[in-house]
Amino acid sequence: MEIKKYPRLTSVGGWRNGTLVGRYPGKGSDNSPHGGSYSQQELRELVAYARERFIEIIPEIDLPGHSSAAIAAYPALSCFPDSSTEVIPSMMADKTLAEMKQGRTKIVQETWGVFNDVLCPTEFTFSFINDVLKEVMDVFPSNYIHIGGDECPKEYWKKSAFCQQLIREQGLKDEHGLQSYFIRRLERMVEARGRRIIGWDEILEGGLAPNATVMSWRGISGGIESARMGHDVIMSPVDNCYLNLYQSEDPSDSIAWGGMTSLKKVYGYEPVPAVLNATERPFIKGVQANLWTEYIGSPALAEFMLFPRLLAIAELGWRKEKTGFDHFTDRVARWFPLMKAQGINHSSHLYELEMSSQYQSEDNNIAVSIRGTSPGAQLFYRMDDGPVVPFLVPFTVSKSCHITALASVDGLVTDQKTTSFRFSKSAGRKILMKTPPSPPYDLSKGIASLNGMLGSDQRFTDPEWSGWNGTDMDAVIDFGRNENISTVRIRFFHGPNSWVYLPASLELQGSVDGEKFSRIHAKSVPPGSDIGVYEQTMRFPGTNVRFLRIIAKNHGLIPRGANGAGQPAWLFVDEISVD
Ligand code: ACM
Repeated sequence: MEIKKYPRLTSVGGWRNGTLVGRYPGKGSDNSPHGGSYSQQELRELVAYARERFIEIIPEIDLPGHSSAAIAAYPALSCFPDSSTEVIPSMMADKTLAEMKQGRTKIVQETWGVFNDVLCPTEFTFSFINDVLKEVMDVFPSNYIHIGGDECPKEYWKKSAFCQQLIREQGLKDEHGLQSYFIRRLERMVEARGRRIIGWDEILEGGLAPNATVMSWRGISGGIESARMGHDVIMSPVDNCYLNLYQSEDPSDSIAWGGMTSLKKVYGYEPVPAVLNATERPFIKGVQANLWTEYIGSPALAEFMLFPRLLAIAELGWRKEKTGFDHFTDRVARWFPLMKAQGINHSSHLYELEMSSQYQSEDNNIAVSIRGTSPGAQLFYRMDDGPVVPFLVPFTVSKSCHITALASVDGLVTDQKTTSFRFSKSAGRKILMKTPPSPPYDLSKGIASLNGMLGSDQRFTDPEWSGWNGTDMDAVIDFGRNENISTVRIRFFHGPNSWVYLPASLELQGSVDGEKFSRIHAKSVPPGSDIGVYEQTMRFPGTNVRFLRIIAKNHGLIPRGANGAGQPAWLFVDEISVD
């Protein structure tokens, strides 16, 4: 946004030299400048356009964290104006690295995340913010002004002699107290102009500003706590209200932030927590959906992510009695032609498709069943490139193949999901997990590792995946008879942002009696890079065994500089195929 008093906010802060390619940690920079800003005149037109449609726009100016672009424009806003912006060089544009080499200190970040260099609570900073907020409030007449308050690391405040002195002078307990002091001063600036503040739930830490409205995003507990203290609350928990997360398993959907908020999950959310009593409940004022656009490069894609999930958010906000998901999807399907006529690039994802399977050892085949999350859909399936046939009863699969399940309403395919099936000597055999997976990620009790059905390539939260937190997988397969084996393939998930790492090494041991095991093969596993599935294949000379022991060594502690550094890594395993 153009701020007339501080033109560098847009001329410098509004531009970056490059953008990370692919999903974080990504594939390096695109080395292509990106940026821009809105003039105050344009924003006034936007406010008027919305008002004519009975919509009020509330601006969010995120303070004191998420401010790297402002600091790049005006380094004096930092506690350490002369020290360089902390960057991950592999994510930055060549031009930026060259500029930094030549002595440029503060730069606009070119990737997303939470950064330590935050606003320093000096009088310069407060008068700067006061000037900025004045111009913001001149353009946006809304009663509420959102001041952010989220994701503000305290590292720099801890290291800053100025901040430590301020903490002592103001009699604050610690850096959280300093954050609270910061937000209270913002509140006074906003209230001096007759407006009120909204902040993310982090503003609870260190004490809430007297009249603040709280937006609960890290789950619902911040909202509950605030309502109990008599503060107004807007509910926006990540798991239900973040529309920048995936909405389906459809592999043709664009990359998105991790996790999934399907239409059903959004619709199923109840904004007023049941634990609140009759006097606390009225403080829950409503819900908000968030669409952060790190991975959304066009208005068309924004529409795809918003619709139809935004219709569910709207219903959460205004309907007293829900009429049920089936009724809802039925109505939404009728809206599709209307949205299309209006040129809205809506997604057609209405139903989550679930495929379940059961290995039938006696016939050596797999019985497959498909379920949609709502009975309104007609279900179909296709095997490899074969014909599409209606799904009526469970069907059997007796060779390795891909099955695509489809849901359709009035001839429009709304959802599809492809699952791979793989037959091997281990499919349908018994497995004993000597080190049990962590209970939340032990949904199949090991059976899924040998059921012939491969888990999602996108996420490790489907029941096909088993997860160990900090411990190794140590499993023994019992083939029931001697088998000659020479290949073992195991699917592992790598998702370092979610603390999930490939194993450090693998070892195979064979036995004919289940007592005496001898080593067949061992290998170390190269570290993963991008998020996804990494299948490890081990080949060795043909060996006769009845029992095969597989040890996958946990990665260990998460390395420095990574998400969750110092914590035990997770190990996620899906299918184990032996031939
Ligand atoms: C947020 O998503 N950081 C509020």
